[in-house]
Amino acid sequence: MSGTSTRIAVVGAGRMGQVHCRIVAENPRAELAAVVDPFEESGRRVAEQFGAPWFPTLAAAREAVDLDGVIIAVPDRLHVGVTVEALEAGLHVLVEKPLADTLEGARTIADAAASATGSKVLVGHVLRHDPRFRSAAKIVAAGQVGDPVHFRASRIVPRSVGFANNGASPIYMYQGIHDIDLVQWISGSPIVRVSATTAAKVLPAAGKEGVDVALILAELEDGSVGTIEISWVLPGTTPSGLASQFELYGTEGNIKVDVTAEGVSLDTLDEFRLPNTMLDPELDGRLEGVVPQQFDWFLQMIEFDQPSRIGIDEAVSAARVLDAIDESLRTRTWADVQR
Ligand SMILES: NC(=O)c1ccc[n+]([C@@H]2O[C@H](COP(=O)([O-])OP(=O)(O)OC[C@H]3O[C@@H](n4cnc5c(N)ncnc54)[C@H](O)[C@@H]3O)[C@@H](O)[C@H]2O)c1
Repeated sequence: MSGTSTRIAVVGAGRMGQVHCRIVAENPRAELAAVVDPFEESGRRVAEQFGAPWFPTLAAAREAVDLDGVIIAVPDRLHVGVTVEALEAGLHVLVEKPLADTLEGARTIADAAASATGSKVLVGHVLRHDPRFRSAAKIVAAGQVGDPVHFRASRIVPRSVGFANNGASPIYMYQGIHDIDLVQWISGSPIVRVSATTAAKVLPAAGKEGVDVALILAELEDGSVGTIEISWVLPGTTPSGLASQFELYGTEGNIKVDVTAEGVSLDTLDEFRLPNTMLDPELDGRLEGVVPQQFDWFLQMIEFDQPSRIGIDEAVSAARVLDAIDESLRTRTWADVQR
């Protein structure tokens, strides 16, 4: 590490990369040392906005500036190449979820991470840093709801997210990976079999690639069962921008996390809104909440040798479930999750 601040490159200056750039730039313990994106015009614009130099590739950035770590926010299908390059260069890595878009890719990254013994690796399953889900995981692990019997996880986001994605990643990968990880993490048991189906009306009508909703029936190793429902059909007028619940019913009780409303409602003559207060609200002119918390944890891993809040094996496990969902959709029947 150079000086007192950790020098970070953000690779991929798109929607999520810009959030990361801002979070790094606003953190006094870090320095945004490079913004990397092959598209010069937008890459330079983002870099200038946050006072950092722009580079077209990670290799060019590494040659020109001294780096301690990278945040990788390129499209899902490009995670493997950039992440392996960063690990082979001995950098600390925060790679956006999913670890990779294929099981083979996830395994390749896991192997590279195992060889890169000096590198800290955090996979961007951002809900691992959300105190509501961390509390739920702790309560279930303590046995307070007994043995899990069934669960329901739903995540319904505005259609603008699906329009922007426009087929870049399947909905169950781009959005559903959050819930796949939540289910496996909170219940403490891996998903072993899935049956998935989809419907598409809103996106095709807008001339966009992809489906509107994926519905996944899942069986877990511990004998519990549940559903994961992922959709991007919310109209833009929705007050919170997210309708999402997680419910787990056990032999001794149940636990529910509802993140649709975040404790604040605003009702005026013009609008009714449920503002974002937990994920990444702008307060006092800077971003706070769970996404900056994730970066703070990454810094703590680098500076104080804190453990990752998600093991690479758990991120690979989520990739295995994605693989089985693909197979189920292809074969239109139940698919076993490969172990
Ligand atoms: N944690 C979350 O809640 C969350 C939310 C949204 C997106 N994401 C993840 O963030 C990642 C980026 O998603 P997005 O929606 O910001 O995508 P995006 O398409 O808006 O941005 C991707 C950027 O990467 C750039 N890029 C492409 N190839 C590159 C390369 N080889 N090197 C450097 N940059 C390259 C593109 O030019 C683009 O600017 C994805 O993995 C996605 O799943 C996470």
